[in-house]
Amino acid sequence: MVHAPEVNDYVKSRAKQMDEVSDKIDEVNLLKLKASMAAAGKTEEEISIEFDGESKFDSEKDKSTFRQYENACDRVKNFYAEQHTKQTLEYNLRIRKEIRETVRARMGIWEALELLNTLVDESDPDTSVPQIVHALQAAEAARKDGKPQWMQLTCLIHDLGKLLCFFGADGQWDVVGDTFVVGCKYPEEIIYGSESFKNNPDYYDEKLQTENGIYEPGCGLENVLISHGHDEYLYQICKQQSKLPKEGLWMIRYHSFYPWHRAGSNAYRHLMVPEDEEALKAVRAFNPYDLYSKSDAPPVVEDLKEYYQNLIKKYFPEEIEW
Ligand SMILES: [Fe+2]
Ligand SMILES: [Fe+2]
Repeated sequence: MVHAPEVNDYVKSRAKQMDEVSDKIDEVNLLKLKASMAAAGKTEEEISIEFDGESKFDSEKDKSTFRQYENACDRVKNFYAEQHTKQTLEYNLRIRKEIRETVRARMGIWEALELLNTLVDESDPDTSVPQIVHALQAAEAARKDGKPQWMQLTCLIHDLGKLLCFFGADGQWDVVGDTFVVGCKYPEEIIYGSESFKNNPDYYDEKLQTENGIYEPGCGLENVLISHGHDEYLYQICKQQSKLPKEGLWMIRYHSFYPWHRAGSNAYRHLMVPEDEEALKAVRAFNPYDLYSKSDAPPVVEDLKEYYQNLIKKYFPEEIEW
């Protein structure tokens, strides 16, 4: 087992592709969030102010919003075709077992953040920010809003599961993207709808394609298998090795579970227990810090390091087994 994994050229090339696709995925989700705000009666100008802190309203932009959304969806089409095909129940059970049974590295949270940041040297200035910048922007936005320390820390670490890239993951379909439940019917709320799974063998398994599939109605989301990626991986680590409250754990586990937490969605309600309503509230409270802190001014890492290292000490007293 390595202490800190090596960043070789292969890992870097996978990571760069992951970073690019991850940004495109965020763009789709951001545009959908804006669309739901518009549907709730906010004007384009109010939405602009909320996201960018300034009004960028003009009628041309207004007209092009739908086109923008369609283009953004087009850019992630191939990614989702692959993710929806390969995230099978069989894969899910196998990767969970594999991850449970091995320790891939030992390092602290800050060290992990710095390592994740080395994955992609230079990012596309138009679309993406370095990982550590995204982490600190999300955390600082929560801090400015007076959110509790555990939530600031949750914002800081929420994408650390992308370290999977170091541990043999392909980096795309098995690390990033919106998540969904495997082992039951695919709801239409998943991007591109259930049709998008037609190359997935589970799609043709009648037992898996009923409303409840392999689950009991009302079994609770804690007991369902969510498609595997950076969210689930980090959740399992934090559940066992951190002192984060359950709300923080929910924010980590469900942050890409858009078919469930997107405003207006009714997917998976039949599998929930009452406590999952609390989880939904927590994830919806977290989501804006993930999606719209990217346009904030870039933080100075060195100035913030001590503050966040103290938070890390409080909630992750021991070195982490990754
Ligand atoms: Fe994420
Ligand atoms: Fe994120």
